[in-house]
Amino acid sequence: MVDVRSQWSVVGDFVPTHANSLKDGRASGTLMEFPADPIACMQRLFREQGDYATLHGDGQKLSFVFCAEGNHQVLSDPVNFHSRFFALRGGRNSPQRRLSSGLLSMNGEEHRRNRRLVMDAFSKRAVPLYASTIVNLTEELLSKWEPGQTVDINHEMTEFMLRVTSSILFGVDNPEMAYRIGRMTDQWVRMNHEAGIGAMISSPETAERYNELLGFAAELDAEIAAMIDLRRHKKTSSHDALSMLLAAHDGEGSITDEQLIGHTALLFAASHLTTAHTFAWTIFLLSQHPRIMTDLHHELETLEGAAPLGAALDRLDLTERVIKESMRCLPASAYSQRFSTCQQKLGNLELCTGETVIFSQFMTHHRSDLYVDPYAFQPERWKTISPSPYAYLPFGAGPRMCIGAALGMLILKTVMPMLLSRFKFQLQPYAEISGRVISTMLGPITPVPMTIEAQDGKFESVPVRGNIGELVDLAGYVSNQSQAA
Ligand code: HEM
Repeated sequence: MVDVRSQWSVVGDFVPTHANSLKDGRASGTLMEFPADPIACMQRLFREQGDYATLHGDGQKLSFVFCAEGNHQVLSDPVNFHSRFFALRGGRNSPQRRLSSGLLSMNGEEHRRNRRLVMDAFSKRAVPLYASTIVNLTEELLSKWEPGQTVDINHEMTEFMLRVTSSILFGVDNPEMAYRIGRMTDQWVRMNHEAGIGAMISSPETAERYNELLGFAAELDAEIAAMIDLRRHKKTSSHDALSMLLAAHDGEGSITDEQLIGHTALLFAASHLTTAHTFAWTIFLLSQHPRIMTDLHHELETLEGAAPLGAALDRLDLTERVIKESMRCLPASAYSQRFSTCQQKLGNLELCTGETVIFSQFMTHHRSDLYVDPYAFQPERWKTISPSPYAYLPFGAGPRMCIGAALGMLILKTVMPMLLSRFKFQLQPYAEISGRVISTMLGPITPVPMTIEAQDGKFESVPVRGNIGELVDLAGYVSNQSQAA
């Protein structure tokens, strides 16, 4: 039997969701503090150790960098710092190995070559081709909502992004198959996460979960292979990313079907929830900042037509600042990791070969020497600041920076104005809003209940509960202490 524990890593895709999963006495050691609550753990380490920190436990060590200089050293050097996002890789030639073989598992020349090939589908030339798909799907979403209806906006945007991501990646001519693959990819990501948690604990369920993951990987692998086959034999041209990946080639040839499966799974996993959470956080933050929402409403009133397209997008200055600030305050990708390929110095740390280093968007974005009043949501700060790529990095930085950044921004900048022009999103008073990092992503773990009303340009914040008040400063926040009182 495979010893899953030997394949487990405390970071990357395998971060326990609930502190309780670590409190049953079977897992021990201070290293577990990190997956139990990554943000609280990093905040403590920063307070106690400063820009560079280490966490020890179970004979292992995790290193952390919290400053722009450290981010620069780690992220700009792909030779001495490698990426290894997926920890449970499965056997050689197995479906699990193929699915987990996207860009984030590649290094060196293999990464450079594949990134060049995949980039074509997300280049400045290719991205605008997806605009009409984005607009059509947004109109579909708007036509579904009725004034007076209360929705969980995180759930709505997750479902919406499932459609957008599936359509952009796989085309619109076979939506059912595309959504099925999308949903299965989400489930596969979740199962990786859960099998990773299980791998910390020695129990019969550990092996069972791992086997379930491998079985599910085989199904997803077959579905994606069938989609690739369909695309390859399609007669008409199509503006979907998979068709572009199939056509991509260089002097060494094209992307193999095996590589395509890994790229497809990673592209879906990397784009879906990150963008959905960014939507949910931005709509939430706006609902709690009526003055900013009023200014934004005035900007959106200048829009001609239902959707901002082409040059109109560039005129939406405040919209852009709002999105940037939302991704600074509540970055959907809260941290990521590299491992050191040699013995080296990182700030005051001595790294060994193979040692894991965590860098964190959340921590860097909340440094008071980089951002005045870092926990406040202040889009206007972007009029006067221009941080370095290693001080503001919602999409990462360096040679592995997100290849979907331009597409992600196009989606956010096109859809936000369409939603906010048509409807007002009113948070339910005293709703509990809590966020947590799951599998490196910071998203809401409670529903975000919004009542959708016809847009009347009148905005008001409401009292809110939950741990959100620890992640961002909110005027109407009702802390746990005042609740108890
Ligand atoms: C708001 C939306 C998004 C956020 C916040 C985001 C964030 C990130 C971050 C932080 C990284 C770097 C990870 C690291 O250095 O370890 C990354 C990489 C990546 N992202 Fe995104 N992403 C978003 C949207 C997308 C979209 C729309 C796509 C694709 C269509 C995408 C595809 C990728 C891929 C393939 C990589 C790996 C690049 C490489 O290793 O060379 N992402 N993303």
